[in-house]
Amino acid sequence: MKKCSYSLMAGTLALAGLLSFSACSENVTVSDVEIIPLPNQVEVSKGAFVLKDNAVIGYAEEELAPAADYLAKILSTATGYTIRTEQGGKGDICLSLRAEGKNGGYTLNATRSGVEIAGNGYGGVIAGIETLRQLFPAAIESQQVVAGTDWAVPSVSITDAPRYDWRGLMLDVSRHFYDTDEVKELLDLMAFYKMNKFHWHLTDDQGWRIEIKQYPLLTEKGAWRKFNSHDRDCMIYAKQQDNPDYEIPQKYLHVENGDTLYGGFYTQDQIRDIVKYAAVRGIDVLPEVDMPGHMLAAVSNYQGVACTDKVGWGTTFSSPVCPGKDSAIEFCKNVYKEIFALFPYKYVHIGGDEVEKTNWKKCPDCQRRMRANHLNTEEELQAWFTHTMEKFFNENGKEMIGWDEIIEGGLSETSTVMWWRSWSKDASKEATAHGNKVIYTPNAPFYLDYQQDKKSVINIYDYNPELEGMTDAQKDLIMGVQGNIWCEWIPSQDRMLYMAAPRMLAIAELGWSNPAQKDWNGFTERMAAHFDRLNTMGINYRIPDLEGFYETNTFIGEGKVTVECLDKSASIYYTTDGSIPTQASAKYEGPIPVTETTDFTFRTFRPNGKKGDIVKTRFIKSEYAPATDVKPEKKGLKVAWYDYKGDKCSEITQAPLKGEYESASVTIPEGVSGNIGLEITGYIQAPKDGIYTFALLSDDGSYLMIDEEMVVDNDGPHSPRELVGQKALKAGYHPVVVRYFDHNGGTLSLKVLGADGKELPVEGLFAH
Ligand code: ACM
Ligand code: ZN
Repeated sequence: MKKCSYSLMAGTLALAGLLSFSACSENVTVSDVEIIPLPNQVEVSKGAFVLKDNAVIGYAEEELAPAADYLAKILSTATGYTIRTEQGGKGDICLSLRAEGKNGGYTLNATRSGVEIAGNGYGGVIAGIETLRQLFPAAIESQQVVAGTDWAVPSVSITDAPRYDWRGLMLDVSRHFYDTDEVKELLDLMAFYKMNKFHWHLTDDQGWRIEIKQYPLLTEKGAWRKFNSHDRDCMIYAKQQDNPDYEIPQKYLHVENGDTLYGGFYTQDQIRDIVKYAAVRGIDVLPEVDMPGHMLAAVSNYQGVACTDKVGWGTTFSSPVCPGKDSAIEFCKNVYKEIFALFPYKYVHIGGDEVEKTNWKKCPDCQRRMRANHLNTEEELQAWFTHTMEKFFNENGKEMIGWDEIIEGGLSETSTVMWWRSWSKDASKEATAHGNKVIYTPNAPFYLDYQQDKKSVINIYDYNPELEGMTDAQKDLIMGVQGNIWCEWIPSQDRMLYMAAPRMLAIAELGWSNPAQKDWNGFTERMAAHFDRLNTMGINYRIPDLEGFYETNTFIGEGKVTVECLDKSASIYYTTDGSIPTQASAKYEGPIPVTETTDFTFRTFRPNGKKGDIVKTRFIKSEYAPATDVKPEKKGLKVAWYDYKGDKCSEITQAPLKGEYESASVTIPEGVSGNIGLEITGYIQAPKDGIYTFALLSDDGSYLMIDEEMVVDNDGPHSPRELVGQKALKAGYHPVVVRYFDHNGGTLSLKVLGADGKELPVEGLFAH
């Protein structure tokens, strides 16, 4: 008999940490309660429910039959048990609908005698099922029968409801194609984390992916392309990073007239199949046929859709639909008519982003339309197009969502804005002030195609959609949050999942859980436990960043390289000759001593051998750099602002000087905006001899030099990124230069840690 030790007795718990106990009365071990997203309220008591062969899932209402079947499939695969479903009768597990409570919420009661899930709506029942699934041992996710496991869940009483109705993921299937099995795998994972909106970006300049019966060329021609520059980049990355997940999948290639063509599309039957599959999992499918821009596949294959009819397929120039031509409007409506019939969800996404309007300025039809409707700008012409389409949507019982560009030129009263341009917080505020609903997908940090780093999960987890200055009425218009997987550099399913997870876990929790219970440490503990489940599911998640060192590190005498990983299932391999580590390289088993300057390259591997990021770090053998004799007189730093439009720190000072400031810290001075090129100079005062650590965060590029030596090189265009370097300094003043550029908002900060690893207060740190 297993040891009986209750570390937690009955009581109401905010699930801040892990709960662990054995249920000796059942002679079984139950899993820790590690649910993502964190439920609102969990009470754990003695005992456990144990699933047995021939268990019955009872469901009260007929509409819950698909949910019961879905649960039966989940519970029978790994157990090998026969699980029956039965309407009406009492089951070992009972599903029912309940009227009270927030839509999408549920209660779950598990006792020795059974499990009851009561949901507010179908989605609430599914949410309860996902919680139950996570209460079972991780092996429940196995696709093979796992023998010798106690299929037990702890006795719990859970009351739970989502914070937001909208917890979404967007998948761009245009830049690279994913077949229906691959889409289903993503839907499965979404459901597991209670994400309930699948935004399907079905068309873009690089490929049209949905069959439209009236316009067959859209897929006959528009779904296929010769390799483009993104494809070629992917092939290069596959080699450079020894990573087959960057290869273009062979199954999407075929040869036609001697040309290799790449692509694919969904037939309408396949679309219906996906919509049904999603619905079973409580997921609404939001289709997007992006217009009036990003329509190359359409405008290059049909006449009368663009401003000119000379748009060549395969060019990179993105010509929009011509809103001046009735034939183009008709085309758009006809396409959407077929979309409406395929997707039962009441919302439809028109796109509307990044419309290149040069042609509209020259097009007589566009200009005629503008005159006839008293439109002064091309932005107003886009708004006219959007409003015309919205009217058509509404006449067909649909509501419109669009990217935040639909605000420009006049937002309608009724459309919903999907905010993506994080550099313009005004978009979400403006839309809500206007009374329109908003879905949050600000590119920083919700674009899941952006490379991941140490901060990418916490940046999502800590995100507060309730922006400063919003009224309660505006906050009520926030529908929720969504991660967007744009796929220019994501050619395969494994790469897609790698980019999505674990960030999507943070999106799920942000969208679902009570913000008053936010707890990053608790979340990371639960996330660490979930890697086991993701491994069992075969999901190619990204192993979190290795910890314990910086991009550059300094030591005096002998150093020690200590590496930690949140994911305990990961193995760490390394080289010191610059080569990419394989599983034949040295394995990290514990701290590595270093006596000379050494470049380490680390790579993590999942238990199935899948590769993680390549991480380079330098350990520099150093001496304390002598302090300068200069005695600076003034506190703070000097800042020179240059009107810099480029993207290299080295060139900033060649641009015209725009203004000069003083600043107590490394930051963007108030009043500096637009084209920003900064050179920040002065001295840092080291209070004593020691190794100092410098964390330079910027969006876009920056660098930090001390004593004319590069300490942190964070140059080049990028979203917010913190890089960290170290330098050994003698007590006293050392000259400092920071350079930084950005063109649309931006971020810049420098954190300095002293020899004891504690952050130094900025007061008195800098002088000039
Ligand atoms: C977008 O990222 N163009 C919506
Ligand atoms: Zn036109």
